[in-house]
Amino acid sequence: MTQPSPPPPLTPVGLRCAHQVNPLGVAPGRVRLSWRPDGAGRGRAQRGYQIVVAADQADLVRGYGTSWDSGRVASAESADVEYLGRPLAPGGRYGWRVRIWDERGAVSGWSEPAWFEVELDPGGWRASWIGLGRVRESFRPPDGPGPVDPVARALTPAPYLRRAFTVGQPVSAARLYVTALGLYEARLNGRRVGDAVLAPGWTDYARRIPYQTYDVTGLLRPGENVIGALLADGWYSGFAGFDAKRAGAHYGAAPEFLAQLVIRFGDGTDQWVVTDHRWRARFGAIRHADLLMGECHDLALESRGWDAPGFDADDWHDVRCRDRDGRPLVADPGPPIRVAQEIAPRRIVRDAAGRHIIDFGQNLPGWLRIKIDGPAGTCVRIRHAEALAADGSLYTDNLRTARQTDEVTATAGAQIFEPRFTLHGFRYAEVSGYPGELDPADVVARVVHSDIPVTGSFASSQPWLNQLFANIDWGQRGNFISVPTDCPQRDERLGWLGDAQVFARTACYNRDVAAFFGKWLDDVADAQLPSGAFPDIAPRLNLEWAGAPGWGDGGVIIPWTLYRMYGDRGVLRRHLAAMTAWMDFLEKGNPDYLRTRDLGNNYNDWLAPGEDRTSRELLATAYWAHDAALMAEIAEVVGRPGDAAGYRALRSKIGSAFTDAFVSADGRIASGTQTAYALGLHMGLIPGELRQAAAGYLVDAIASEGWRLTTGFAGVGCLLPALSGHGHTSVAYRLLAQDALPSWRYMIDQGATTIWERWDGWTRAAGFQSPLMNSFNHYALGAVGEWLYRFVLGIELAPGAAGFDRVILRPHPGGQLRWARGSYRSVRGLIASEWDNDGETFRLRAGLPPNVTASVRVPSGDARAVRDATGGPPAAIADFPGAAGVQEAVFEVGSGVHEFSGPVMTE
Ligand code: BGC
Repeated sequence: MTQPSPPPPLTPVGLRCAHQVNPLGVAPGRVRLSWRPDGAGRGRAQRGYQIVVAADQADLVRGYGTSWDSGRVASAESADVEYLGRPLAPGGRYGWRVRIWDERGAVSGWSEPAWFEVELDPGGWRASWIGLGRVRESFRPPDGPGPVDPVARALTPAPYLRRAFTVGQPVSAARLYVTALGLYEARLNGRRVGDAVLAPGWTDYARRIPYQTYDVTGLLRPGENVIGALLADGWYSGFAGFDAKRAGAHYGAAPEFLAQLVIRFGDGTDQWVVTDHRWRARFGAIRHADLLMGECHDLALESRGWDAPGFDADDWHDVRCRDRDGRPLVADPGPPIRVAQEIAPRRIVRDAAGRHIIDFGQNLPGWLRIKIDGPAGTCVRIRHAEALAADGSLYTDNLRTARQTDEVTATAGAQIFEPRFTLHGFRYAEVSGYPGELDPADVVARVVHSDIPVTGSFASSQPWLNQLFANIDWGQRGNFISVPTDCPQRDERLGWLGDAQVFARTACYNRDVAAFFGKWLDDVADAQLPSGAFPDIAPRLNLEWAGAPGWGDGGVIIPWTLYRMYGDRGVLRRHLAAMTAWMDFLEKGNPDYLRTRDLGNNYNDWLAPGEDRTSRELLATAYWAHDAALMAEIAEVVGRPGDAAGYRALRSKIGSAFTDAFVSADGRIASGTQTAYALGLHMGLIPGELRQAAAGYLVDAIASEGWRLTTGFAGVGCLLPALSGHGHTSVAYRLLAQDALPSWRYMIDQGATTIWERWDGWTRAAGFQSPLMNSFNHYALGAVGEWLYRFVLGIELAPGAAGFDRVILRPHPGGQLRWARGSYRSVRGLIASEWDNDGETFRLRAGLPPNVTASVRVPSGDARAVRDATGGPPAAIADFPGAAGVQEAVFEVGSGVHEFSGPVMTE
């Protein structure tokens, strides 16, 4: 008999630096490397790695790590390796490769090379800020004659900027380093540079200004070249947040542009083209462009070819030029915003006035691209809304002062209109003034959000549950736009920390948000008050709201979530000082360990249905205790055992104060709300012997509401996990399947395609909720997504695991579900779970990537009878935490596909 040949060695694939593929700008301190060990077969594991980093391509090819050679490191780490080589040169380009040793000691070849380029230091910038100032050209107010419209008066045309220059020899490489105070679109020789939109994104521009780096080698040519840019107000000087009167007052008065093009020639010389007084400017077709209000083009005013050689710019104006100040320019650590998808109209109807009403069938963030073919001067106006009123017209009351209106005045003949410096949250668009019948092939919705790759999937035998999963993901897509916003449509769109922290775990399962949240946490730190209070909102706007329980705590919860989901220790190190200041702030204000002071705006269990009866002190203290527990773990991870002990002691003092104040001897919790129990159980604040009793009271609290939930933002994410963690998965399923108000299913039954801000955003009985606060795209209540991954599919981090090196795979079958399947593409590879329940036999198929081990837990009516596909019996039998009196069969497995079956569980 021949022995089966051993599998080929594992190979390293998917190389990343700072969570990005070959980033062109990364701060030296953020250079952390990762890869995935790839290979078929079972029980595959990495036992060692070697990394080489070199500035010189030839060195890299030969495997010489002239900048860093890690040598062979005996380690399973593949998700987060810190660069420990020679200092990296600002602006330098580095290649890197890795090879790995597998479980048999076999070594792979060197990986395909990857690279990164290092952020410029202040000395690497020679450019000056340029702009046109805030020039008010006279233009037609959109509403025609009548009273002066203050919004129209505040909107000004978008500057066009250009500079011609000559390239005298063949180019070997060229980089464009570019940013704006405002928004920019860079152009080179008539072509758009890159495919990012709404760049450079949003930060507190007073604290840091992100810039982008583009490889423009292929866009240059010998002879005359032209670099150009369009500029708009964006978050910097446009309408932002919810105080329309303050337009332009947040960060600055008018947009400015900063760019430097660095061209390298084969002979080692270089040429720099930087923004300075030599640039020329004028206005063009874009009469105004504003994120909240919309964009207006007059195509007759466009100068064709303005951004290409051979154009006569004699009548263009001088630019206003200003030296750079001390504000740091940072290589954008987050993913760019891009057009992620196009959606064709589902239906177009015409109303009595002849306007076209388009239904795209999906509430989405973005804008339209539309073809117009009519006589010169044809004026088309497009309004956007999330919902229709009863008469079929656009319902825009909930947009508050945001106009979400685009307009174009066309020239003769066929042309395409598409805005670029605005953003609308909408499912419906109303097109007025369109010449003739609008052909569905001539209009498309462009979906615009940060480029966060999909990592999660879910499908089940219940169509409404699949719709819920889709709505949760759309809620995320609708709001992950440079920062995690609350909503994409009304005059708000702010980076609320409370919403983000309750949704963070779900967000990480759905999509790769490591770089996205990594960037936003810098905004959070920038917005921290000198007192140490974390803000309610980041980036900072004109508000100094801070310290609200459940909001400020996001400053600890989110870094911790990123560490656990992605194994990223860097994010903990970067935020340690900010987190420590927050903990000091809380302790200083609350010396008796109940969090009763410095509660800021204190939103408590925001938007809990009915009356929010959860005790404010209880909620605040629970979050503080949770912070302390997380800080103890964080301190261990970053190698500060002394601090960890201090936080454990703090946690125990807060815990005792909590129990004394809020937990009675029989396990009842003060105020008795679902949120109070869910937080208490989830955050481990109920003494062990009382936990089951408390979970029983939680079930009573749900039953007394007719099996409906009463949680708001603060409680919603932990409600189902708290139930499943304490033997009540069947109640969790019952809540999930509830279709009466308030419930997730109610929204779905009303046709929701996203998650609503309020359970009763629209009801059959009362119609629309108050227009003052009624978004139909607000992800917070979608925090239930986490339960679908962690419990329905059962893809859960093992205790102490980071980046899914160790997994507990424990599906929780229940409700009316006959089957469920899904996956999570972790930093170590794809983890898949698929189960079905035919009433007699429960079958589970689990897939694990190399270098990951799992404890697979199969709940069963007869756990001893559960077998893996080879007939192997379980390694152990344990109590299944998801249901009282049920046991689970335990199998310890490594990579590969594993199948299990056994008698179904009975409760
Ligand atoms: C936002 C929320 C936010 C809240 C704070 C609202 O206006 O839309 O999502 O968390 O304010 O209470």
